[in-house]
Amino acid sequence: MSPSITGFEEQYFEDPGFAPGLKGGDEVRGYGYYPDYFAIVEAQLSALIELSGASVLLDAGCGKGALAAYARRDLGCQVVGVDASRYGVRWAARAWGGEFTVRAAVGALPLASNSVDAVWCNGVLQYLDGDGARAALAEVARVARTVCFISNIAAAQRRLEWGRSDLLTHLYLRPAQWAALAAEAAGAGWRVTALPFEGESAILLDRPRRTGAALPLRFTELALERMQRLGALRRMPPGLESFRAACMRSARAGH
Ligand SMILES: C[S@@+](CC[C@H](N)C(=O)[O-])C[C@H]1O[C@@H](n2cnc3c(N)ncnc32)[C@H](O)[C@@H]1O
Repeated sequence: MSPSITGFEEQYFEDPGFAPGLKGGDEVRGYGYYPDYFAIVEAQLSALIELSGASVLLDAGCGKGALAAYARRDLGCQVVGVDASRYGVRWAARAWGGEFTVRAAVGALPLASNSVDAVWCNGVLQYLDGDGARAALAEVARVARTVCFISNIAAAQRRLEWGRSDLLTHLYLRPAQWAALAAEAAGAGWRVTALPFEGESAILLDRPRRTGAALPLRFTELALERMQRLGALRRMPPGLESFRAACMRSARAGH
C-alpha cells in the first residue's frame, strides 16, 4: 500500500522552520502547532462523542496519533487512526492504543461501509484538490454510521503570512463551501451543516434520523461552552446568533 502523498514526513512534523506549523508549542498531546490548540479540539471531540453516543471512532488523518490516544484513554472510545504519512503512522502506532493505526489515504479508506460510529477529520482535506476532497468526503460518509466532524484551515489564513509560506495547503474554503462539497459527496440521509467556529472552517455531517433535529446546534453550544471553560475561547463567534436562528428554522421545518 502506498498512499500517494508527499510532504508529510519528519520535516513536516518536527522542523520548526518548515511551514505550515509553529512547531515547538505544547507537544504533550502531540499538538505543537499552537500552544492553546488542544483545548479546542478536546472541547469539540468530547462534545461530539457525548452527544452522538459514538463509541467507535475513525480519526482520519490522525498525524502522530495524539487525538486518537486522547479519545481512547479519556473518552473510552475504540479508535482507528488512519494517516497517509509513514512517519505519522510510525508515531501513532506507539501512542496509547496505537495498534489500531493504519497507513492509508483518506480517499481510499480500508474500512467497510458503516463500520464506525463517527469520523473525526481535522486539518487534512485542505491538502487535497477539489476532486480529491470530494472523494475523501464520500469515503468518510461511506464508513460512518452516525456523524462526521470535518475541520480545515480557515479561508482567511490564505492571506496571512501562514498562507503565504504554506506550500502544502490547496483548499482555503469557507464552511459553506465545504458544506456544499460534502452535500454533493455524502449522499442520501446525511444532513450537512456549516459550523460557526472561528479560526477554522468546520462542518458537521449527521444522520438526523439517528441523531435528532437538534444535534448541530447542541454540539456547537456544548463545544463552545467547553472551550470557554478550558480558557480557549476569546469571544463567542460573531455568526453564532444567525447559526442558532437557522438551526431553529430547519428543526421547525423538520429537517
Ligand atoms: C495538519 S496534520 C493534522 C493531523 C491531525 N488530524 C491533527 O489534528 O493533529 C495533517 C495530517 O494529514 C495527513 N494527510 C494529508 N493528506 C492525507 C491523505 N490524503 N490521506 C490521509 N492523511 C493525509 C498528513 O500526513 C498529516 O498527518
